[in-house]
Amino acid sequence: MTIITQARSLQENLKKNHKNSSVGFVPTMGALHAGHKSLIELSKKENEITVVSIFINPTQFLAGEDFDKYPQKFESDKKICELCKVDYLFYPQIDTIYTKDEVLIKAPSYKGFILEGENRPGHFDGMLQIVLKLFNIVHPTNAYFGKKDAQQLILIKQMVKNLFLDINIVECDIIREANGLALSSRNSYLSSIEYTQALAISRSLERAAKAIANGQRDALAIQALIKDILTEAEISNIEYIQVVNRDFEPLTTIELKNTILLIAVKIGTTRLIDNFWL
Ligand code: PAJ
Repeated sequence: MTIITQARSLQENLKKNHKNSSVGFVPTMGALHAGHKSLIELSKKENEITVVSIFINPTQFLAGEDFDKYPQKFESDKKICELCKVDYLFYPQIDTIYTKDEVLIKAPSYKGFILEGENRPGHFDGMLQIVLKLFNIVHPTNAYFGKKDAQQLILIKQMVKNLFLDINIVECDIIREANGLALSSRNSYLSSIEYTQALAISRSLERAAKAIANGQRDALAIQALIKDILTEAEISNIEYIQVVNRDFEPLTTIELKNTILLIAVKIGTTRLIDNFWL
């Protein structure tokens, strides 16, 4: 595995040594867990070369969010990438990526400013900005994103379409603990009491999925069912429980194969999201 910190150097390496190879790309912010690993493994399977980036992107964090305390685990991340036989690990510093007074990317005004976008205004502008930069550095054939960040994934697919980028976006399933909790680098912030509370998130999605399998199609009833389970677990800070289609339009009636159930809550100071795709 080659570790590269300079964008130009990665570009030159890929151009010189892998001109005709398929390149799989997995962008991350590090603190790698089995969720990230599943993306890397899929990329390894589907491409000749796999590039992973680790960059805690300042522009997608809002003032007061956890940018300063976001977990940094470079040594163990490096080991995981080595074990996965990643070809290139791109690990840039902030000043390699950003200069002053930049050309900016704006998330679309509807899909970028509802739900996560409403609760974290500007987050998706910064996320798209870094993903576009990374795409332009790596020029991947395939890029791998988790369904865990559903709105992020859908916005990236839209950016690729709107900007005519020649990149295939691969949607990857959510990896969970055996107890259902969706893996997230932010789970490490939870105390043991909060961790137990957090299990209600996936439990509520499971119950909702079961109700839908048993014929429930009323989105309001599904939202109420989820809310009851979260409330029972004493999760009081619910940011949203939403039922949308793949264009992120709210649904009143659940459409099989075109519905995503979305949850965002705060447990203590930790913000967690999870979802279920039908
Ligand atoms: P990060 O949170 O590190 O996530 C990197 C990738 O891993 C994303 O595509 C995310 O959806 C995926 N992922 C996280 N948890 C997962 C899980 N439990 N199962 C499956 N996939 C999971 O998302 C970001 O970083 C950043 O916004 C980034 C795209 C790198 C831009 O800065």
